[in-house]
Amino acid sequence: MRSLPCSSQVGKIQGAGGRERACCVRAAAPSAPPPSGRRSAVQTAATSAVKATALAEAPPATTAFTPRPVTSVLTLEGLKLPSYGAVSDFSKAEACFVQLLSTEDLDLRLRGDKALKQAAATLEAAVQAAVTQAFSENSVASKAKAAHLFLQRTLYRINRLVLFWYDDLKNYSNERSLYLAQLRDSIEGPWQAWELSQIDVDALKTLSTDEIKERIRSQAAVDVDPPLSAAAQYMRQDMTRDGYRHLLAVGSLDGLAEASRQSRVCGGAANEVMCAIFRVLMEEYGTGRYNKKHSTFFAKMMTELGLSTEPEKYFDLSPWQCLASANHNFLLTERRRHYLRYNGGLTFFEVNGPSVYRTYLAAAQRLGLSDDASGYWELHIKEDERHGRQMVEDVAVKLVDMYPNDAWEVLLGYDQEKMMGERAGAGSLPDIQAVDKAQRTPADAM
Ligand SMILES: [Fe+2]
Ligand SMILES: [Fe+2]
Repeated sequence: MRSLPCSSQVGKIQGAGGRERACCVRAAAPSAPPPSGRRSAVQTAATSAVKATALAEAPPATTAFTPRPVTSVLTLEGLKLPSYGAVSDFSKAEACFVQLLSTEDLDLRLRGDKALKQAAATLEAAVQAAVTQAFSENSVASKAKAAHLFLQRTLYRINRLVLFWYDDLKNYSNERSLYLAQLRDSIEGPWQAWELSQIDVDALKTLSTDEIKERIRSQAAVDVDPPLSAAAQYMRQDMTRDGYRHLLAVGSLDGLAEASRQSRVCGGAANEVMCAIFRVLMEEYGTGRYNKKHSTFFAKMMTELGLSTEPEKYFDLSPWQCLASANHNFLLTERRRHYLRYNGGLTFFEVNGPSVYRTYLAAAQRLGLSDDASGYWELHIKEDERHGRQMVEDVAVKLVDMYPNDAWEVLLGYDQEKMMGERAGAGSLPDIQAVDKAQRTPADAM
């Protein structure tokens, strides 16, 4: 699972599952709000491009296919929830976005449908406001939090379209929408610039390849068994069964689709590095056996605890920090330019995994849960120790030698994954503590 509170602390709620790394995505300035009564830049660009290719395709005929129940990722269901995840000043804009996303042939329809244009204008104005609120130093914390959540939920809803969810094929009609691509860029640009501003990238660029290799090895030696953070201690000693169930529900966004994003980086020229990454992926995928796939072990834990195993069912429980890790991972796996960063991040993720899972396992054992309710952790403690070693020596170090001028990006990926994983862990802890206190898991109301 790449999504639980991570690293020296809580765990791996959201991380490099498919891990990506966005490199030097410095930033696209926030887009200007659309002038009233006029089309926004996003709309204009999207619709003019559509004009060129307007094939006037008839909407696909309805088939007899009965889709499985969709989750709140594709509906407004989640917006009704009280305090976890979805409620924010941006609920109206989020509703507009879901409306746009569920419109077949969105780019084409945006050309002439007034209601859709209005929804797009509302959404874009909200994105603009959220970018300002989220990434300004002077923002009020609660407003920044709501803005981050809205932006990351929006990004996730776009990014997830690169994966297949075995649902209604109509849900993918906008997967290549220019409107959605530009909307994504208008968030991703300023967000990634903000993320990068928290790391001293210039210092990384001054390191020699020998220094980079030494840093990777020495950091990995620490991150494989770091001191317990306060969050990890809380989970080991105080987290209740409800808190543990909440942890699983939040982690399931990644855990039930584990390594999907990693699968996106395995194509291309053949060499030892690529095979080492594929070897790790093969184990994540149970070498092609469904009952051995890691996500199957995750689902078993959820079933044992009375939780739904529907993918993305608990999307609304994800704090923005967890969604940010997932979206970062989507970016890095979808852009070959960020290949080194992605693999630096995956290296940290595999190296650090066992220490995180030991904390979860200790909590489950203290709570007297069954082997099925914690088997996933045990499996990962064993496998990720091997994956970590493979990633350091067979991937990260080798990439440094192959790309001496860009080798610092491997380290950037490693450091950023660690930072974002720790942030996801810290972001999840207050919710777990609130659940422990209330003795009620909000997942049960979903
Ligand atoms: Fe795994
Ligand atoms: Fe692994």
